[in-house]
Amino acid sequence: MYEPLIADLAAHPRVVETRHHMHHSVSKHDHMMRVVRYSYRLARIFRADRRTCVRAAILHDLDSRLGTLSTHGAIAAEVAATLGEPHEVSAAIISHMYPIGPKPTTREGWVLVVADKIASLTDMTTFVSGLFTGQSLRERQRLCQTDPFYAGKRRRRMRRLWQNVT
Ligand SMILES: [Fe+2]
Ligand SMILES: [Fe+2]
Repeated sequence: MYEPLIADLAAHPRVVETRHHMHHSVSKHDHMMRVVRYSYRLARIFRADRRTCVRAAILHDLDSRLGTLSTHGAIAAEVAATLGEPHEVSAAIISHMYPIGPKPTTREGWVLVVADKIASLTDMTTFVSGLFTGQSLRERQRLCQTDPFYAGKRRRRMRRLWQNVT
């Protein structure tokens, strides 16, 4: 199983806090763990290093808000390096948005590209199916309140409104 390969990273505050961040209208933590599970399975098919794949997967979208679709891979790759991950992990992360952004140069990079695409589709289908029970909108509302990016956005909107009426 993949758990022992990522136990230290799963407990790291930078990963734990993503439970409260939004990504594709679901929690970023859910998204990254989906990518971990798909990467673990795909690594065998791609004959890639499993440990590198799952460690890249659990970090691949950290600080994604600081970049664009094509640049946030490089930002997360840098975060991985500062957390002490080897070059192979960062190299896989940097190209995970391919064909938007750089092309993967390693097997592990290709695993992450495919796993991220499948996980993104699963994020969306999970969100849509949860619309019928109201769970998706409740979770989205919770994430809007806890994700600093959205909290900041709300503050900026309120400030603009205030400036318009004064
Ligand atoms: Fe991403
Ligand atoms: Fe992702």
